[in-house]
Amino acid sequence: RSLPPLVFHWIPWFGSAAQYGQDPVEFFKSCREKHGNVFTFILLGRRVTVTLGPKGNDFVFGGKHTVVAAEEVYGPLTTPVFGKDVVYDCPNEVLMEQKKFVKVSLTTDKFRDYIGMVDDEVTQFLSTDPAFRTYQMDDINEWGSFSVYKTLAEMTILTAARTLQGKEIRENMTKGFAELYADLDHGLTPLHWMFSNLPLPSYRKRDVAHEKMSQFYQNILRNRRNNNVGYEDDVMASLMNQTYRDGRPIPDHEIAHMMIALLMAGQHTSSSTTSWVLLHLADRPDIAEQLYQEQVKHFGLPGGGFREMTYDELKKLPILDAVIRETLRCHAPIHSIMRYIRDDLPVPQSLGAPSEDSVYVVPKGYTVLASPALSQMDPLIWKDANTWDTTRWLDAAGMAAQAKREYDEDTKVDFGFGLVSKGTESPYLPFGAGRHRCIGEQFAIVQIGTIISTIVRKIEMRLEGPFPKPDYSSMMVVPQQPCQIAYRRRKF
Ligand code: HEM
Repeated sequence: RSLPPLVFHWIPWFGSAAQYGQDPVEFFKSCREKHGNVFTFILLGRRVTVTLGPKGNDFVFGGKHTVVAAEEVYGPLTTPVFGKDVVYDCPNEVLMEQKKFVKVSLTTDKFRDYIGMVDDEVTQFLSTDPAFRTYQMDDINEWGSFSVYKTLAEMTILTAARTLQGKEIRENMTKGFAELYADLDHGLTPLHWMFSNLPLPSYRKRDVAHEKMSQFYQNILRNRRNNNVGYEDDVMASLMNQTYRDGRPIPDHEIAHMMIALLMAGQHTSSSTTSWVLLHLADRPDIAEQLYQEQVKHFGLPGGGFREMTYDELKKLPILDAVIRETLRCHAPIHSIMRYIRDDLPVPQSLGAPSEDSVYVVPKGYTVLASPALSQMDPLIWKDANTWDTTRWLDAAGMAAQAKREYDEDTKVDFGFGLVSKGTESPYLPFGAGRHRCIGEQFAIVQIGTIISTIVRKIEMRLEGPFPKPDYSSMMVVPQQPCQIAYRRRKF
């Protein structure tokens, strides 16, 4: 039994923070060359053991939650933003129940309605936002330009508000809710993760915004109850009607905090994915054309224009599916999946070992880290790993992976038919795996798929300048700013 090898660093407490912060994936690759798939690095006083490859993913995602725990790692960052008693501020068993509550309100029936709503929001945005000035003119030969990440961030929050968050939130988007959201969002940075509370303006704004937002949701709940307004079809209404296993109804502050958690969990993940999709389409007009022709073939009307697509149809569009899959492979929004180690934990020999007859042990108090972002683009696993190539998903194996239903026995959460095949030992896990797996995948596919389809139907795009590099400085991987896409309105 011995400790995993320690990555060399000059400054004791600071450790490898600079290299990790600048480009975690490259940092892991260079450590792997020296140490193999298992190694420890120092990150601002923490000891972080990285376990790479599909087996490394399995070690972290598949670990027992009593030993390999998420709440100690993520809680200090998320609790001030989401609020008390939900997600990582409650025992893991309670989180599992909370995930199930949300999951039952994300049904196929709802998704059917969401497609029209998302399409409507995007259409309205293109018709009114100043960045789409030339789109709003009659001359189809006029090129304009939009800032891709800014535009997609706005479209994402508007469409999430209109669908998941409910009518009252959508109505308030232009009346102060957007600013509250921004203040909360600025509380989700690496600095806030390292230090939960500092006497700085961003912390104060975060705390004020949380309080206001929590009250805002709780007022909606009280209003609905007092006025007997059902809105029975949305997530909030569904949470109002459910109870914990012990019969306890979900308190209003918990519902409010779950709604905040959903808003935050779905924002940068979806908006960065959609941004990368548009950047690749702008870079590869041939693939954008394939996507457009797929839309024309299935939904084109004889006199021009399109009919709405249905949820079942959205799920069966091979080009759209491959574009989203391949973008998630190359640009997983979450690069590091972390857990806190509550008890000394031996590393399986097959993942990495000091010698044939001994094992590494990750000691209690360490953090473990898996990086599907690396295994998804690992040249040891994928052909032309660094190339965005949609054709890799267009064969029989790609389609078969999609057809697998995923049900987690352990958490009793049914994830439906996912992009990802079942199991924690896989190189491709953009939505994670195991107990903490994403419950927003199906919703994200509806949201991302509809936004892209609506955009591709309406405009042609070209990249302005070089393809942007990933920016790792926030908690999620987003395209480096500024990045603009040139566009021109299509005929119909
Ligand atoms: C968990 C990715 C969209 C809600 C996760 C995890 C990943 C992920 C990798 C696992 C984290 C871990 O194991 O530590 C993504 C991606 C998205 C996306 C790539 C979009 C492209 C969404 C949306 C929602 C959402 C739209 C909400 C509607 C959640 C929740 C969890 C989760 C509640 C569970 C956290 C836990 O159990 O600890 N997501 N997500 N996600 N996601 Fe998503």
